[in-house]
Amino acid sequence: MTGQTGIFALGDAAHGFFEYTLQPGGDAKALVRAVADLRPPHTTVGGVNLVVGFRPELWQRVDPAGAPPGVTGFNAPLVGADGYTMPATQADLFVWFAAAAYDMVFDLGVATRDALGPIATLTRECTGWSYHHSRDLTGFEDGTKNPNLYQAPAIVLIGDDAPGAGGSVLLFQQWRHDADAFFALPDAAQERVIGRTKPDSIELTGAAMPADSHVSRTTVVRDGREFDIFRRNVPYGDVSDHGTLFVGFSADQLRMQRMLEQMAGLDGGPRDALTRYTTPLSGAYYFVPAIEALARFTTPEDD
Ligand code: HEM
Repeated sequence: MTGQTGIFALGDAAHGFFEYTLQPGGDAKALVRAVADLRPPHTTVGGVNLVVGFRPELWQRVDPAGAPPGVTGFNAPLVGADGYTMPATQADLFVWFAAAAYDMVFDLGVATRDALGPIATLTRECTGWSYHHSRDLTGFEDGTKNPNLYQAPAIVLIGDDAPGAGGSVLLFQQWRHDADAFFALPDAAQERVIGRTKPDSIELTGAAMPADSHVSRTTVVRDGREFDIFRRNVPYGDVSDHGTLFVGFSADQLRMQRMLEQMAGLDGGPRDALTRYTTPLSGAYYFVPAIEALARFTTPEDD
């Protein structure tokens, strides 16, 4: 089974993230069919990458045999030990267009909204752009620890022998930065928040690595093994209001949920220092089915 290629399409400068909610009484299967029916130019025009995902419970209804067991939406806010809250804003459909420039993202975004209009409503939209290649708006390189493109498929895609094969679980969250507070810190203190150096993204080691750094709190270890995910974070916003669109993929939802819990200090550890300078505004999980799984829902061309 083949994972959606847009997951691995690094390097685009312009991004549109669109979250849709089924119309009241709307038919889940009709939505999946409408998405599967997105035809050229949505899926073939050179240089436009597409990732689509569905509320896990919706995919479960539409394709029970092809749904990974136990995967759920972001159905309740995640509340940390001290009350720090990550909101739940789960929608039914996630569509991500990425391209070299925003014109195609815009045109396809409009065309998709029009095509899905009778079935689903666009309820949340985020425009993203790349900042100094792979930096986020803290100025730090984002993605250093990512698996490379040879390793990523094994981490991102559900194995061929399991339900949901070739699919992936996506965590999508919008995080607003408190840039004034973060940049008021000297560089060395910023580095302790992240857990890496700023110019060259070298991981702090030993006593230099704080227990509450972002790297410390997002390292998930079980039985001595470290669990990776594949992050495609994208900056968003303008001079006065901006932040990070967190885009994380994994074959295993649990490790992403653990990362969030650790960030919020729910494991008994300290709260992630980065959460003192960033605020989550949204949060949703989506199941991103394999290309073949989605293609099964297309209307035959001569219908
Ligand atoms: C405001 C939001 C966020 C920002 C600005 C941010 C930024 C960063 C930066 C700069 C790094 C270090 C470089 C790297 O390895 O990529 C990093 C590492 C990482 N982040 Fe985030 N991140 C954010 C949210 C999250 C969330 C919500 C998760 C998990 C659900 C997460 C998971 C990770 C992981 C797994 C690493 C690698 C840790 C390691 O080195 O083992 N991040 N992030």
